[in-house]
Amino acid sequence: MSDPIIATERLDPNTDGVPKTVHLLASGELVAIPTETVYGLGADASDPVAVAKIFAAKERPRFNPLIAHLPDTTNALREGIFNEAAMRLASTFWPGPLTLVVPAARTCRVCDLARAGLASVALRVPAHDLARDLLGRFERPLAAPSANRSGRISPTSADHVLADLDGRIAAVLDGGECKVGVESTVIACLDEVPRLLRPGGIARADLAEILGRDLAPPEPASRPIGPGLLASHYAPRARVRLEAMRVATGEAALLFGQFEPAGLGGAVASENLSETGDLQEAAARLFSALRRLDGSGASSIAICPIPDDGIGEAINDRLKRAAAPR
Ligand code: TXA
Ligand code: MG
Repeated sequence: MSDPIIATERLDPNTDGVPKTVHLLASGELVAIPTETVYGLGADASDPVAVAKIFAAKERPRFNPLIAHLPDTTNALREGIFNEAAMRLASTFWPGPLTLVVPAARTCRVCDLARAGLASVALRVPAHDLARDLLGRFERPLAAPSANRSGRISPTSADHVLADLDGRIAAVLDGGECKVGVESTVIACLDEVPRLLRPGGIARADLAEILGRDLAPPEPASRPIGPGLLASHYAPRARVRLEAMRVATGEAALLFGQFEPAGLGGAVASENLSETGDLQEAAARLFSALRRLDGSGASSIAICPIPDDGIGEAINDRLKRAAAPR
């Protein structure tokens, strides 16, 4: 089946980009929007026809549960049932790169398709002025997975979105580059034990401090089948090789800090995520650096070691998925 070609508009938030975005979303169209983590492919979460377009545009192999975005905590409380841990996390980290999976409330407007038929719902209040402005005007939850084709690298700029989805979505609201650069941390608060479903923009240690306990791993039986949790994901075209201490001739290299791998001189291309060894900066640059190295034509990308502290856990999680057998 061939998809209809749509002229994808690049909307300017300094003119009428935000109201146009809201109008398109209210008409059931897809618009990619900036958030502090990555660009999201937005659709009205209450409209199953609009949500179905997300899966078609992304070529997602199956219907996975999506995150519903809200302008503030008050609006989020209408969609889900928050226990004490969820309340504490929301009041500390929202707006911000945190997603809470909670039981859906009776008043929840997020449709079954966006929730993949689950009794729970994933909610997030992004810390991005444009995103919050449009969510406030839209007055409905917005389903928004990362705005890339399924299995590809997540987008941190409007150009990245267009590289994957031009001709498949109505518009992209161009809000410049994303500051955090990796997706939100996903935590399930479905019983007394908060569980870390996906490491992300907020470090595990900061969450544990607020909760007064360490985060539990997901229950194996209830482990959701979200693509962000699949072994192979975020895959560049090139092969990805982790913990590289040397670079082979013809390889591209992803560097961090002052470490210089042997054979760097023979690399086709190289990118340093942060010369000063700053993990926040590294996260913000991760996906665009991977895209550039992938575009260099190298058949393999050598990834030098990156510390696992703080947001480093999310960086290494994404790199492991990029390196997994396809
Ligand atoms: O930073 C982000 O979170 C970005 C931006 C655009 O907000 N969004 C994002 O959405 O990464 P998405 O759809 O790619 O990731 C959704 C994640 C998946 O890992 C999915 O399995 C999990 O959230 N999820 C959603 N609903 C769930 C549920 N009811 N139970 C368990 N996991 C759920
Ligand atoms: Mg994604």
